[in-house]
Amino acid sequence: MTISPAFLEKTIREAGSIALSHFKNLKNLKITKKSPRDLVTEADVAVEAFLKENLTREYPQFGFWGEESGQTENQSSRWIVDPIDGTHSFTKGQYFWSISVALEIEQELVFGAVYVPTVDDYYSAQKGQGAFKSGEPILVSSEDQLGDSMIATGFACLRNYLTDNNLERFCRIAQKTTGQRRFGSAAMDICMVADGQVDAFWEQELNLYDVAAGALIAQEAGATVTDFKGKKGVFPKQILVTNGKLLDQILPLM
Ligand code: IPD
Ligand code: CA
Ligand code: CA
Repeated sequence: MTISPAFLEKTIREAGSIALSHFKNLKNLKITKKSPRDLVTEADVAVEAFLKENLTREYPQFGFWGEESGQTENQSSRWIVDPIDGTHSFTKGQYFWSISVALEIEQELVFGAVYVPTVDDYYSAQKGQGAFKSGEPILVSSEDQLGDSMIATGFACLRNYLTDNNLERFCRIAQKTTGQRRFGSAAMDICMVADGQVDAFWEQELNLYDVAAGALIAQEAGATVTDFKGKKGVFPKQILVTNGKLLDQILPLM
């Protein structure tokens, strides 16, 4: 499998420029609702169209799955793309949103990139080759005490009006930790665990395009990626990402 990380970074950064052009013109941004609590904007659509055109032209052997345009026929080896992760934050002019691109070949994640254009942080990883932020190696934090840790989570489950809506779990864990954050971009949340900025992250009811790239980056940075019972793997409906040292302390609280 030959991909060019340089081509991919150039393309994803260009997608970031497209997103920023809309971000700087929010008063004219066209926003629609996919569901009562799920937005999509012309920026999401434009970024995904750009990525789909350029990735499928450069790599015709791979299919494409984008949050907004859906799946092409070839899904055995595919790009998995969230053009703007954190759309609600984007529409409010906040910093916390990202572009997430993963390559999955025969059900194995082999490349992941999460780009945060507002601060120009480009997180990336190739399977077995480590994780990087704008070219510099990154690693998970060394925090081994849950009581001193900072955790992040999200509430996608509230969108679906689920009874297991993370509120009780959040309160249980929040009382055992020092810092709690809800940034608004799951892809970025996971990269912040990879980069040691946050010690653990969990969320339910996500989709593979929210977490695929971040999960590979986190694994390559030494994170554990499991479900809420500690089963290793990428489970978008129940994802728990930790720095490894806190896994045993957090699992009983999940
Ligand atoms: C959202 C973000 C958010 C998560 C939501 C997702 P979107 O992605 O990842 O952090 O809590 O559930 O839908 O919809 O802005 O691409
Ligand atoms: Ca998303
Ligand atoms: Ca999105």
